[in-house]
Amino acid sequence: MAKRKKLKLKKWVYFALLGIIIIILGSYYGIKKYQEYRYQQTLEYKIITHGYSKEEATTLQERLNEEQIISILDKEEHATILSLLQEKYFLFKNLDAYIEYIKEEEFDGKLSEVIAIINTHANNKWYTKEFTTNIQLKEQMIVNKFYALDESYKPENLKTISLNYSYGKEGDNQLIDYAYEKFLELWNAANEKGYYLMVTSSYRTYQEQSEIYNSRKSSQGEKKADQTAARPGHSEHQTGLVVDMTSKSEPYAEDFSQSKAYEWLKENAHKYGWIERYPENKTYLTGYSPESWHWRYVGTKAAKIIHDEEITYDEYYAYYIEK
Ligand code: DAL
Ligand code: ZN
Repeated sequence: MAKRKKLKLKKWVYFALLGIIIIILGSYYGIKKYQEYRYQQTLEYKIITHGYSKEEATTLQERLNEEQIISILDKEEHATILSLLQEKYFLFKNLDAYIEYIKEEEFDGKLSEVIAIINTHANNKWYTKEFTTNIQLKEQMIVNKFYALDESYKPENLKTISLNYSYGKEGDNQLIDYAYEKFLELWNAANEKGYYLMVTSSYRTYQEQSEIYNSRKSSQGEKKADQTAARPGHSEHQTGLVVDMTSKSEPYAEDFSQSKAYEWLKENAHKYGWIERYPENKTYLTGYSPESWHWRYVGTKAAKIIHDEEITYDEYYAYYIEK
């Protein structure tokens, strides 16, 4: 009797164990299937099914949001997209334009240049796109070969630059009041180092710019004139935020770009909110030959970024303001 009971019990244990094993295996399988199902719902899975590797999917997710990723999954240029994403000034809204530019121009230079060109609209012929300058931005407004000021625009609160610091007669040179304050700070800092800066030109009306441009055009032809003078409405001088300068302490340095004062300005002007507006090697973005004498007030925060990152105001505006 006792023997049978023992056997019965063993059988019962056997079935129980089997049941437990089946439940465990079933659950394991179920969980696996569920996890698989859940993974297939993820963005990473969607990306990978479009031909990207797991690592590339991570890059996309680090740099873009879900909506952006989904909108580009059908694009074939995976390698180009991944490289563009690594660039500091990449703007998602310009992705198609970057890709098109690389293809059409058979571009084989630096991607950072493509990004700068597209961001600043410099892929267009100069003056073929006309945007209105947003004057509400004050010292952060942009004026270039695409962004223009109205003929009627005249800044408020223009202050006369003292003849201590400017050539011509009283009233010839003017700046917006807050830019003049920062000009004086800049001037004093330069003077402490032994440089005597003199303003040769500053605020200009639309009409004055028109005269300058037209006279240059008739003496040198349109192409040459466009390299050195802005067309009316397109000159930063109309903003009242600009000075052209020379160094009185270095009369021997006829070319301002060769002067010590210019060297000092390049290193220090940003501390007072001033930037070099048309630097060397950036003509493809600005449309102008380098102008070592032309300095623009943009405020200390923007000036520091522009100086430290070695970008033009056009690039700064596209990436940090216009976006
Ligand atoms: N020379 C600069 C570009 C101007 O005419 O405004
Ligand atoms: Zn100038």
